[in-house]
Amino acid sequence: MKVLCFGSLNIDYTYKVDHILKKGETLSSESLQVFSGGKGLNQSVALAKAGCDTYHAGAIGEDGRFLLEVMKEAGVHTEHVKIRDDVRSGNTIIQNDKEGDNCILLYGGANQSIERAQVDEVLAGFGQGDFLILQNEINEVAYIMEKAHEIGMKIVLNPSPMNEKILKLPLQYVDYFLLNEIEAGQILNREDSGEIDGIKLAGELREHFAGAAVVLTLGGAGSVYMDAQETVRQSIYKVKAVDTTAAGDTFTGYFIAGIIKGLPVKECMDMASRASAIAVTRPGAAPSIPLAAEVESFVF
Ligand code: RIB
Repeated sequence: MKVLCFGSLNIDYTYKVDHILKKGETLSSESLQVFSGGKGLNQSVALAKAGCDTYHAGAIGEDGRFLLEVMKEAGVHTEHVKIRDDVRSGNTIIQNDKEGDNCILLYGGANQSIERAQVDEVLAGFGQGDFLILQNEINEVAYIMEKAHEIGMKIVLNPSPMNEKILKLPLQYVDYFLLNEIEAGQILNREDSGEIDGIKLAGELREHFAGAAVVLTLGGAGSVYMDAQETVRQSIYKVKAVDTTAAGDTFTGYFIAGIIKGLPVKECMDMASRASAIAVTRPGAAPSIPLAAEVESFVF
């Protein structure tokens, strides 16, 4: 069984700052580091490091060739990434504060240049039962979902970053939602999602999308998995955060890797939680994602 992540690849410009900038403020940063990132790339790297046969599709400009090397080193197949000479790669400006928190300014670049012909060409190599993982940092997500559904792929959606485009997607085709409580609330059109119990929120999502399994991340309160058969709660592993960038992507990649390997859900949730905790102890997005052996042996 193969897994295809059709998603973004970004050059992350990460600035270490005392605090996140306020409107109108000018602040000197302590350092600048350039990392490989993008929700798509990070999730592909996590899947591959977790031991899955992972293919990545997307687009970069000439300036992003090093992103391919990072993915190849992690074991990701990159032949479906288009290199364009007419557009620059996606990039971000990330402020990373002393608590390890961040805020991210995103420039779509090549990630927004996906063409339907590329989608058709890529999906021709996949079929029934293969997994497709999507986020919300590329264009043509709805078309990719339609075509993937037609050929019987299992669709995993991480609706992040959340915006109105998500609500226009054919969400009825999603087999697994991986999302936080704010994203879940927006999909359900609720205003009070942050205040309601995670299990209740996951249940409401399941009422709307009955065929789907839901993995809801709840920050310090851990995460919840729910499908028709079971509900599993997972707590977080406490660590000293250096940089939380890609923690969610690491969780997504490790969780889906476990499902693809046929592990019990409890084990998938535990591995995902361990892997994302390790990722936040390190700077950067993709470089912070641990290998499976480390996730298994790490002592918290
Ligand atoms: O989820 C983290 C990622 O979001 C970063 O790597 C950045 O590129 C943004 O896409």
